[in-house]
Amino acid sequence: MKFNHIKLIRSLQLAYSAERAASFAYIGHARSLKDADEIEKIQEIERDEWSHRAEVLKIMNHYEIPVSTFFEIKYWLIGKFIGFSCLFLGRFMPFFFAGKLESGNVCEYFVMIHYFHSLGISDQDSVLFDMGVKEKEHEIYFMQKVQHEKWLPWFEKIFCWGVHKSGNDIHLESLYSIENAEKYCQDFKKKKKVN
Ligand SMILES: [Fe+2]
Ligand SMILES: [Fe+2]
Repeated sequence: MKFNHIKLIRSLQLAYSAERAASFAYIGHARSLKDADEIEKIQEIERDEWSHRAEVLKIMNHYEIPVSTFFEIKYWLIGKFIGFSCLFLGRFMPFFFAGKLESGNVCEYFVMIHYFHSLGISDQDSVLFDMGVKEKEHEIYFMQKVQHEKWLPWFEKIFCWGVHKSGNDIHLESLYSIENAEKYCQDFKKKKKVN
């Protein structure tokens, strides 16, 4: 079954490639750490991102959406660059920017649910919902790692992510059911541009 929803097609292609970039970044991040628990957690998050990439590919195959060579090359480079940078950025910045990126990734999956619903398709709700929630769990882990750091208030002002600012409106302690997933990320959808 094919469809012609350009924003949804580009979102899926972007997510597929960006998930690998995230995995590469976490490989570098894990290498930059010394604490065994932190290394294990970052490796677990890396595995989550590989699994997201595989799930996104299943969706793309189902709707006969091709992988974007442009996104694959672009995000391969970005992922490798970020992973390498983690070795030189100290401790705070890799945790902070991982949290900021995860914060933005959450709504990517909820907005895909909106797009699928606009086509009358709800078969993908569960997998997209689970991936969005998993990204939120990642965001919270990174927040816990930086919330007491002295640099956070400054970075929060500049990069709009921190204790008081998030890139999504999901709250794990009062999570809507999958049936109400459309209530999430409405503002994000309006702001969203797929490049
Ligand atoms: Fe992911
Ligand atoms: Fe993630």
